[in-house]
Amino acid sequence: MGNIKKLAVLVSGNGSNLQSIIDSINIGEINANISLVISNIETAYALTRAKKENLNSAFLNHKNFSSRESFDQALSELLIKHEVDLIVLAGFMRILSNSFIEKFNKKIINIHPSLLPKYPGLKTHEKVMNNNDNYHGVTIHLVDEGLDSGPIIAQARFKATKYKDIDSLISKVHSIEHKLYPLIIKMIIEGEINLNELSGKNFKCYEDELDL
Ligand code: GRF
Repeated sequence: MGNIKKLAVLVSGNGSNLQSIIDSINIGEINANISLVISNIETAYALTRAKKENLNSAFLNHKNFSSRESFDQALSELLIKHEVDLIVLAGFMRILSNSFIEKFNKKIINIHPSLLPKYPGLKTHEKVMNNNDNYHGVTIHLVDEGLDSGPIIAQARFKATKYKDIDSLISKVHSIEHKLYPLIIKMIIEGEINLNELSGKNFKCYEDELDL
C-alpha cells in the first residue's frame, strides 16, 4: 500500500477505539499521524477526545445533506484535502456509498464486535449471549459496499461462556478491540499487512489469553 502516514478516524460515539489509536501513536508504537477525526454526531465524546489531543476534527452533519451521495461527497473532499492515506472507521455509524468505497478502494478499514461473517450489524453481544455461543470476538476488515462484509484482515476470539452478563462481555470485547486495532494499524503501516493482497480466509486469528 506504500507509505501510509496520514490517518483519518471516522467516529460517531464514545471513541474509545480512537483513544487507543491516539495512545499508541503517542507512545511511538504507531508511526503515523491522525490528520483528521470526523464525526457525524456533534455530541460524540470522540470529538472531545480529538480536541483534548489537539487533533484536527470536523463535525459533518448527515442531516444537512439530501442524500447519502452528497454527504459522502463532502466527506471525501475533507479526506482528500487532508491527503489521508488510510481511513479508519471506529464506531462510525453510517453506511458508505459505493462511489465513496470505489474512490478509496482498499483504503478503508473497520472494526466490528463479532466473529464475522457471524453477526454483521448491531446487537452482536446480545446475539452471542442469547445463542449461548462458545466464542465471541472482534473482526477488523476492509470495507466494501456490503454491511460488515469486506475481506477480513484479522480476528481475535475468546471464550464467551466465561462471561455471565452482557456488561462484562461488552467490556471484554472493548479491551480486545483496544489492543487489536492499534496492532493491526501498526502492521498495515509497517507493510506487514498489505491491504491490496488480502487472500480469502487466510487471515490471522488471535486467540485471547495466548497472543494478545
Ligand atoms: C466498537 O465496539 C466497535 O467495534 C463498533 O463500535 C464500537 C465503537 O466504540 N464498530 P468506541 O466509540 O470506539 O468506544
